[in-house]
Amino acid sequence: MKKKLLSVLLCSVMLVSLMTGCSKNTASTSSTDDSKAAATQAPADTSADAPADTAEAKKVGVAMPTKDLQRWNQDGANMKAALEEAGFEVDLQYANNDISTQVSQIENMITNGCNVLVIASIDGGSLGTVLAEAKEKGIPVIAYDRLIMETDAVSYYATFDNYMVGTIQGQYIVDALKLESEAGPFNIELFTGSPDDNNARFFFGGAMDILNPYIESGKLNVVSGQKAFEEVATLNWSTEEAQKRMENLITAYYAGGTNLDVVLSSNDSCAIGITNALVNAGYTGENFPILTGQDCDITSVKNILAGKQSMSIFKDTRTLAEKVVEMVNAILNDSEVPVNDTKTYDNGTGIIPTFLCEPVFADASNYKELLIDSGYYTEDQLK
Ligand code: BGC
Repeated sequence: MKKKLLSVLLCSVMLVSLMTGCSKNTASTSSTDDSKAAATQAPADTSADAPADTAEAKKVGVAMPTKDLQRWNQDGANMKAALEEAGFEVDLQYANNDISTQVSQIENMITNGCNVLVIASIDGGSLGTVLAEAKEKGIPVIAYDRLIMETDAVSYYATFDNYMVGTIQGQYIVDALKLESEAGPFNIELFTGSPDDNNARFFFGGAMDILNPYIESGKLNVVSGQKAFEEVATLNWSTEEAQKRMENLITAYYAGGTNLDVVLSSNDSCAIGITNALVNAGYTGENFPILTGQDCDITSVKNILAGKQSMSIFKDTRTLAEKVVEMVNAILNDSEVPVNDTKTYDNGTGIIPTFLCEPVFADASNYKELLIDSGYYTEDQLK
């Protein structure tokens, strides 16, 4: 009984933290503030949303794309811990970026009696058949971080505001180059993510909505001329692919002394490849281009501190994991599932009700507060 009381209490505190940490209306940009807020709030009456007695036996299948990228390891670990703390049994699987592996993992989760599926897809368009099985068995599906396309089996979507990720990156470039006042022209190249990931279009679209006016006015010059999504996409968000493309761009357009001032990269795995190519081509210190990223992967944060990447986007995966636990609880307790966006994400079968968490930028000026003080990383990890 004591144990149950404790877990209800823990859950209440966690739910309060979710509400403060993930709300669109939250003014705070720091997870330190969020966790402080959670700790100082009185335990609100959220026990109605806590897992019911029977929830202890309920199973949640969590399908993650790959262990190759640091962020998914963190997402999976956070989700497992948060779900178990809330009293659920968790089946967590990684699919090595292989679509058929992910499909069979989900099939197994369905066969093994999972009550809810949480899925970060590899290819958002390839899960229709297996999810039709889930729907037939009445198993709700939450799309995690990436929207699952062309299937009516998706009940909810939880992610960070993907369009905002792009606008923050674009605005960072505008501010860093002082594009409002400087005449330019500044030379820029563009990189985005995998064409089979619905997020990539939002990231790129958000960034280009900010950068396009400066490209049109001639203050930014895309020397290669490669501006269309298809031309700048990077299959599987591959570091190697991004490195190869950057090497080719340097050889073709920047070998004769043309300076490269800035590179838009939608995330860190691409930025790391771009940095490798730039370093190999002799870019250092002063002449290192402004370079964006996303995820605050350890390698990228180290590059930021070494002046080989300018910024990253911090998406506190602890907050997203907690929000998903809140959704799972609500679904299984038949209470109202928290969403804050019901118009942006159409997966081809209609709008999927979504909870958007807020991304923030991280650079050398604020990484300590965001990443270390909040307990996301230890100082040692960044050495
Ligand atoms: C995620 C990004 C991540 C990328 C590559 C996207 O769907 O939103 O955070 O960098 O996938 O894994």
